[in-house]
Order: sequence, then C-alpha cells, then structure tokens
Amino acid sequence: MHDLSGKPSIVAASPEALKKAARALQQGQLVAIPTETVYGLGAAISQEEALKAVFIYKQRPFEDPLIVHVLSADQAMSLWQLSIEAERVFQCLAMTFWPGPLTIVAKAQGAVSRLVCGGGDTVGVRSPQHPVARALIEATGIPIAAPSANLFGHVSPTRAQHVADDFYDRELLIVDGDDCAIGIESTVIQLDELGHLRLLRHGAISEDDLARALRTGLLPVVISSKEPGQISRKIEAPGQYLRHYAPHTPAWMVRKTDSLPEGLVVRQTLPLNETACLDFAGRLGQHRADFQDYQDLSALGSSEQAAQVLFQQLRTLELSTAFKVLLLPELDPHQPDQQAIYDRIFRACEGKRAIIIAGLVYLT
Ligand code: TXA
Ligand code: MG
Repeated sequence: MHDLSGKPSIVAASPEALKKAARALQQGQLVAIPTETVYGLGAAISQEEALKAVFIYKQRPFEDPLIVHVLSADQAMSLWQLSIEAERVFQCLAMTFWPGPLTIVAKAQGAVSRLVCGGGDTVGVRSPQHPVARALIEATGIPIAAPSANLFGHVSPTRAQHVADDFYDRELLIVDGDDCAIGIESTVIQLDELGHLRLLRHGAISEDDLARALRTGLLPVVISSKEPGQISRKIEAPGQYLRHYAPHTPAWMVRKTDSLPEGLVVRQTLPLNETACLDFAGRLGQHRADFQDYQDLSALGSSEQAAQVLFQQLRTLELSTAFKVLLLPELDPHQPDQQAIYDRIFRACEGKRAIIIAGLVYLT
C-alpha cells in the first residue's frame, strides 16, 4: 500500500480533490497537506500502518514524535490528560494563538498511538490556520499527524513542489495550498501539570508573546527555554538535532566583524565569487557585486519576511551546482523576533561560522 517506488502527484485543492484526499487518509494512505507554517506529511492518527509509513518515507527515527493537527481546543483535549492548572493555561493559549503556529506538548491519553508519541508519554498538538488543512481535517473526521514533509534533516517544504522534490520516487498525493504564509515551523512548547511551560522549538510565536498572553489571562508566567541554536549534539528534546533544515550545499553563518579573532582555527579560505550569499537587511550589501550570487532575505530587516522566504531560497540555491558554499546571515539570538530564524540558520550551518575580510571568506 505504501509503495517504495512510484511518483508523487500534486493536485489543486478543489472540493473533489479534498474529498479524495480525505478518503485516502481514512483508508490509511499518506497525504501531504499545506499549512500556514510548512507542508506536512499527513496520516490519520487511527491508522497505525500509515503512521509507520510517515517515519519510513521521511527516514526519520521512531523516537522523534509527530505533531497531531486538530480543528479545535476540544479536539485537542480528547488527546491529553491535563491537570486543572495545565488546562487553564492551555485554554488561555488556545484562545490567544489557535488556530495558528503554536504546538503544545502535554501528557497523552493512553489511547494515542505510541508511534505518534515517539515512544514517550506526551503528544504535541496544534490547530493549523490554513483553510486547506482545516478542510482536510474536517472532511477526514480524524486528527491528522503530520511532521514537516521533507526527508529527515533536510530543509522543510514551503511549496508543493518542494514535497515532490524530496519524495520524487514515492507514491504520494500532495494537496497544493500555495506558498506557506509563515514559512518556518510552529513554536513548540511543553506544558507540565503545574501549568509551567518549556520552549522546545522557536517559531513565529515568541517567548514574549506567550508571556504576554499568560499575563493577560492572569495566569502565572513560568517559561523556561534555551538560547536558540544552543543545543548539544545529543538529543535533548526529540527532534532538536544540531544538523537540521540543512541544504545539500554546505553552509556557513557569516559573522559581521572586521578582524579575525585571535586563536580562531580557519579551515579554508575562499574568494567571494565562489560563494552564494543570503543577506539580511543589507548587512553585506557592500560586497554584493563580489559574490557569485547575492539575495537579501529582507532588505527592510523584517524577520517575518525573512522567515517566509528562507527555506524557499535554500532549496533554490542547493539545486545549483555552481555554488560551492552558501553564506547565511547570523541574526541576533537575543532579539525575540529573530530567534526562530537564527535557530533555523544555525542548524542549517551546523553551527559553523565564517568571516569576510578583504574580499576573502574565512571558513571556521
Ligand atoms: O509547523 C509545524 O509544526 C509543522 C507543520 C506541518 O505543522 N510540523 C512540524 O513537524 O514541523 P516536525 O515533526 O517536523 O517537527 C516537530 C517537532 C519534533 O521534531 C519535536 O522536536 C517536537 O516537534 N515534538 C513533537 N511532539 C513532541 C513531543 N511529544 N515531545 C517533545 N517534542 C515534540
Ligand atoms: Mg521537521
């Protein structure tokens, strides 16, 4: 049923196509679905074989749990066991941020598949905003588990063709919902029984946004988090690997400095014209003519705009064999609105940094 050889097909989100996709999900097939963050590789949570196929298609380890997509806060509640304190916090967050790019991880009901939970006892749930995703969940009548629809470790897909590129040799129905409006994955938080939060993944909703919502709801604000990108090579939270979102072409983060810090080990130097540069707010604009290719994620310095195009740009650049190295901007991990993009770029570069001095790139 889950053919290892086949071809993906992209279909427009017509009412007939949605009906067909919902039927496929009910029957245990995988369907790629558009959401406002990134495209997801969907399976109905009642279909064990389909859930298994999600991991196999993605080549993803079974201990990396899946996010379940629901229509409403009530539907989410049926997947969890929440304490009174946790439920209060959840209702406040759902009222403020759902439907939208916030995934909430909490203690799972016993009936939730172990495959969805990655073998643990929690499940992450989110209610997406994209009308096609909502229509599909509704038509299917079953919550849909969907990780990002890319091969494990690769850049997440923000348009239907990206999904087809990663699963070019698989039988897969891909519902086209245009380019994703947000462009990076949801913020993931863990909610414990005291109603305290732990930020597991940065996204469009920042820690400040969460704190503001809790304060407005007159709830205690307890949020722990790590600096974006600052995660060891070991898995701390499942899915938080150092190498993630990585393009096929090796990438380095460019630090803005005029001198080589003392003691820095340089692996290689390259002329600028052998590199492609993605900039932010025109920081490296003075070298623009020297790079082999130069694009700005957002000349105005808008993190929203940069998030929307980042993955798309990485996927376009990696398709070209002309570039040996990609240079990506190092954003400010202390600015709430830049944390999520900093984190994606840090991982796309596996934490490697480069410095530009006198027309040369120093790769460290
Ligand atoms: O925006 C998104 O969240 C997209 C769209 C399709 O909804 N989905 C997505 O899923 O990014 P995925 O599987 O690529 O990333 C989900 C990450 C996991 O790798 C893991 O870090 C975290 O969310 N996660 C999910 N369930 C969890 C759980 N029960 N405990 C801890 N972390 C969990
Ligand atoms: Mg992913």
